[in-house]
Amino acid sequence: MSDLTKISQFATAMLNAATLDDLLWSITNNIGEILGFDDCIIYLNVDGILIQKSAFGIKNPNERNLLNEIAIPIGKGIVGTVAQSKVAEIVPDISIDHRYIWDEFSGKSELTVPIIYEGNVLGIIDSESSQLNAYNESDKELLQTIANIAAPRIASEQYCTELQQTQLQLEQSNFELATSLRQLKENQETLVQSEKMASIGLLAAGVAHEINNPLAFSMSNMDFFKECSEKLINIYKLIITHPNISNEIKQQLALMNYTQLMQDIEEVVDETTTGLLRIKNIVSDLCGYARNEESVMTQFDVNNGIKVTTNILRGEINNNCHLQLDFGKLPSLYGNESKVHQVFMNIILNAIQASHKDGLITVKTFADDKYACIDITNNGLGIKNENLQDIFTPFYTTKPVGKGTGLGLFICYRIITEEHGGQIKVFSNEKQTTFRIKLPFIGHKQLNAISCA
Ligand SMILES: Nc1ncnc2c1ncn2[C@@H]1O[C@H](COP(=O)(O)OP(=O)(O)OP(=O)(O)O)[C@@H](O)[C@H]1O
Ligand SMILES: [Mg+2]
Repeated sequence: MSDLTKISQFATAMLNAATLDDLLWSITNNIGEILGFDDCIIYLNVDGILIQKSAFGIKNPNERNLLNEIAIPIGKGIVGTVAQSKVAEIVPDISIDHRYIWDEFSGKSELTVPIIYEGNVLGIIDSESSQLNAYNESDKELLQTIANIAAPRIASEQYCTELQQTQLQLEQSNFELATSLRQLKENQETLVQSEKMASIGLLAAGVAHEINNPLAFSMSNMDFFKECSEKLINIYKLIITHPNISNEIKQQLALMNYTQLMQDIEEVVDETTTGLLRIKNIVSDLCGYARNEESVMTQFDVNNGIKVTTNILRGEINNNCHLQLDFGKLPSLYGNESKVHQVFMNIILNAIQASHKDGLITVKTFADDKYACIDITNNGLGIKNENLQDIFTPFYTTKPVGKGTGLGLFICYRIITEEHGGQIKVFSNEKQTTFRIKLPFIGHKQLNAISCA
């Protein structure tokens, strides 16, 4: 086969190689098969170190498997010298060349050519033979021609690989940036929500405090007024039945509809007292949370807390819907047990009130890396998207007057986030609503630090 035919075969094989790896293995393989050399290795220059990448012969007993890969710095050994000088060399007898680096695959003579592209050494093609003086000038010329044909292809494949790696890194950075941005937005929203809640809480507690005094005297006046109206009724009964009262006065009294008047006063007094009692309950709820009384911190078991709460609500649940409990394994937590129970109570009560007849409420507990999670789900009508941001605001209620005060979730939010360093989130669509409570697994001291902050 003429040299031209050999070169043409090399060039065709190189064109067909799809990757840098394919290209290097195809070159070494063809050096063995087309040129008939015993052995051949391609080194690539990686930051000044020549690293073996593909081989034919003794170094490559199996498919694409290099035995005992070695790395040679540029300037060291025969291979390193050729990379430095950029001039191909024939070494007829390596045993008398002091530069030669010996290993278990050493031959007797060697041919080494540089792979150069735009003046830079991309690598080396190196062949060793078990015969002394095995290579001549025409072998050197042929191998150098092959190295020159391979050089632009190797350079372009290396460039493609670098480009792909840069693209991958860019994609990874983009992904990390998007994740950070999302987390930042979430944190910002949580912060804004917490700030909003804290100011609303302060405002509501202040208003409640101010209402307390006029409420107290209104209630005591109402009691007094009730007593007075009862006395007036008795006086009236006495007058109307007294034998010395003239018929004319009795007629006058009847004309004034005095009996009806007294009944109306009694009803008004009762209704007003009920209204004042409701205001009293709201005010005491708000004041209680503002003052943070009963802050008894103990260890408690979340699953047990849910059992206790659902037992208390058993009657309500049985009359309205079904309950399914799915408890995961959780360590005991540290906090104000009765307040956490109150949170479970408020949220499960809301779930009962939002359920259809025969609806299903599920309470599922599980642990993630930092929190005990409690999902309370009901399959009622759900909360409209535009209302989700309002449900934790005090006095927001969609329940009829007298049924809900709109304080339940506001109080839950404060207990979970401010007093226990946890989180409370809601997920809702037109079919179901889930409240997710997350309570942290943290030690006593840290928790105290949070509640005192
Ligand atoms: N599981 C739920 N499904 C649908 N809507 C809900 C659910 N939980 C809460 N809501 C909505 O959030 C509003 C606020 O709830 P929140 O518990 O704060 O007050 P409330 O239940 O109306 O009154 P109360 O102060 O008596 O608890 C409710 O009125 C209701 O519109
Ligand atoms: Mg409620």
